[in-house]
Amino acid sequence: MQEYLRALPKTELHLHIEGSLEPELMFELAQRNGIELDYASVDEVKAAYHFDDLQGFLNLYYQGMNVLRTRQDFFDLALDYFKRARSEGVVHIDMHFDPQAHLIRGVALEEVMAGLLEAKREAESSLDLSVGMIMAFLRDRPVEEALEVFEQAAPYHSRLDAIGLDSAERDNPPIEFKALFERARNAGIKGVAHAGEEGPADYIRQALDELDVVRIDHGVRCLEDEALTERLRQEQVVLTVCPLSNVCLKVVDRLESHPLPALLDKGLKITISSDDPAYFGGGLLANHIACHEAFGWEESTFQALNRNALEEAFIDEARRSELLERLTKTANR
Ligand code: HPA
Ligand code: ZN
Repeated sequence: MQEYLRALPKTELHLHIEGSLEPELMFELAQRNGIELDYASVDEVKAAYHFDDLQGFLNLYYQGMNVLRTRQDFFDLALDYFKRARSEGVVHIDMHFDPQAHLIRGVALEEVMAGLLEAKREAESSLDLSVGMIMAFLRDRPVEEALEVFEQAAPYHSRLDAIGLDSAERDNPPIEFKALFERARNAGIKGVAHAGEEGPADYIRQALDELDVVRIDHGVRCLEDEALTERLRQEQVVLTVCPLSNVCLKVVDRLESHPLPALLDKGLKITISSDDPAYFGGGLLANHIACHEAFGWEESTFQALNRNALEEAFIDEARRSELLERLTKTANR
């Protein structure tokens, strides 16, 4: 089964590139940039990765990315992950990145964008891996700042597939970002939003009604609201569920008690992703294997999940058709 899952052409819709920063690269970049880390070794970093909740993780996530300073750093970060993902059989990634988290540290937007766009170019030309770009905004910072950053990013608007909404969800409802998503829509840019990870089901409804998003990141708490669940089913709104992330951040006690099987039973359009693979115990393949072990899912389920992801991916139609065909071929082997 592990070999089947590795060979299956997989698509990941929910990945924060800053969350793919492995401790080894963190040390390398710290040394390159003359930055003192709070850790003495890679093992010490790994030992610190135990979280009680989303905020506990975010504290380390924002601290870890402090080593990213130049376009070369962002290029190395992204290409490092793209190569690893490709070796696990990933063929497409819609990548979130957090410009505000870098701007507030004094890193210019141009450095972030140049490095990430160059890595995307390299992945698409040499790795057989396509990459979508999701510029994410931090919901625990003021909407005014998000609007300014979106404006500042105007030279890159044509390179964005969507804007996203992430960071601390509790008490930071989607509706506060209505003006931002409206601005993006007017610029022809779609929206996606994290909702229903730690926040209530109502945040999912808000993201749909107020932000007009085309996908919900996480969304696992939708089951607390029957009418909302039925709406998600009817409209086939894709949920990008992140199994290992939900265990690490204690959204669920253990994978065996994760609502994933229930979400599938309800007929929802589900995909699986790794979220922050360097922090949550592995990439997309590890998430697939963990689901097989916890839920006993067989080939057809993984095939369906990856078909869902491909159908919803930010990708050109020629590449989508080609990958759908490759998925079918692998599945029927
Ligand atoms: N949730 C919210 N914000 C994030 C996450 C997440 O899982 N990862 C990086 N930023
Ligand atoms: Zn996320």
